Amino acid sequence: MMKLPLYPEKDYLPKYADLIDANAITKMRENSNKCFDWKGTQPYYPILERTEDIKALSTDYSGSAPVIGKRDELADDQFERFHQGLKDLMPWRKGPFNLFDIDLDAEWRSNLKWERVANYLDKAGISLENKRIADIGCNNGYYMFRMLKDNPELIIGFDPTIRYFFQFHYLNRLIEDSPLHYEIAGVEDVPLYPNFFDIIFCMGIIYHNQNPVGILKDMYGSLQKGGTLIIESQGIPGDMPVALFPNKRYAKVPGTYFVPTESCLVNWLQKAQFKDIEVFYSHKLEFKEQRRTEWMDWQSLEDFLDPEDPNKTIEGYPAPIRIYVKAVKK
Ligand SMILES: C[S@@+](CC[C@H](N)C(=O)[O-])C[C@H]1O[C@@H](n2cnc3c(N)ncnc32)[C@H](O)[C@@H]1O
Repeated sequence: MMKLPLYPEKDYLPKYADLIDANAITKMRENSNKCFDWKGTQPYYPILERTEDIKALSTDYSGSAPVIGKRDELADDQFERFHQGLKDLMPWRKGPFNLFDIDLDAEWRSNLKWERVANYLDKAGISLENKRIADIGCNNGYYMFRMLKDNPELIIGFDPTIRYFFQFHYLNRLIEDSPLHYEIAGVEDVPLYPNFFDIIFCMGIIYHNQNPVGILKDMYGSLQKGGTLIIESQGIPGDMPVALFPNKRYAKVPGTYFVPTESCLVNWLQKAQFKDIEVFYSHKLEFKEQRRTEWMDWQSLEDFLDPEDPNKTIEGYPAPIRIYVKAVKK
């Protein structure tokens, strides 16, 4: 098995040893690294091995699609191998990216979500510069690459899904001295970072959790005093503070537990002790935002809604809206 440069020389643990329990985090890593020996993980190694010689000379994080490399930086055979590797790592759910001039148009136009958040942060005067940031459920790291534009002090992505780690790693290792860090870990591991982060992003996660108030409390605990949580959730329309608890699946997605209304999500945040809670955006999800593309050629939103009534999911529940909230640890 090839050796993965998982925790680069610039591992953040030594630098923050006074603030976090490096031994406990090392233990967490030892545990999660077991997934590298799983049978299902083995097909990823040849993809990495075939493209080990490929590095990007240029990057640009200022646009909707993070740009890593240009076509003329690679010989033809390198470009072909890289392109094939991207295909072998499908499906790509979050994007877009521009990689050596290949437009990777993922299932989600995650730029739309990021731009809603970034515009709000801008207006609210919340800067990412020199901040310690967590992206919980970071997937392939799309938002982390976007954050690089603002020069944060530290960005750690947490996501337990091994495929997404390999997608992230396939891109991140192209970049010389990348400052991004990725823990194959979940929101349940956040208590290992007490009073540590300035900003936590938790987007697309809470409705998948059995204990929404519990994870909000955990994130509260790992924010510094005055730190900000940006939470984005699937939700249902309505004025009452209630959450839908679907049987088996919601919009065909298994593992969906509590889908809140706007006021329900605000109440959860209050119960977790957050202050200065502000719902800054909510909208109905549209096909332009989540759809099948050549990089995700499986089912997408249009297959998840009732073909006769787009206000309902295929199971007959209210169709999802998306709710964006800021909350502060005082
Ligand atoms: C709906 S996606 C959201 C991705 C991204 N944050 C976004 O908003 O576009 C959910 C992500 O959560 C990850 N995930 C699954 N279990 C998790 C856990 N226990 N803690 C944190 N993330 C988890 C999945 O691997 C997936 O990448």
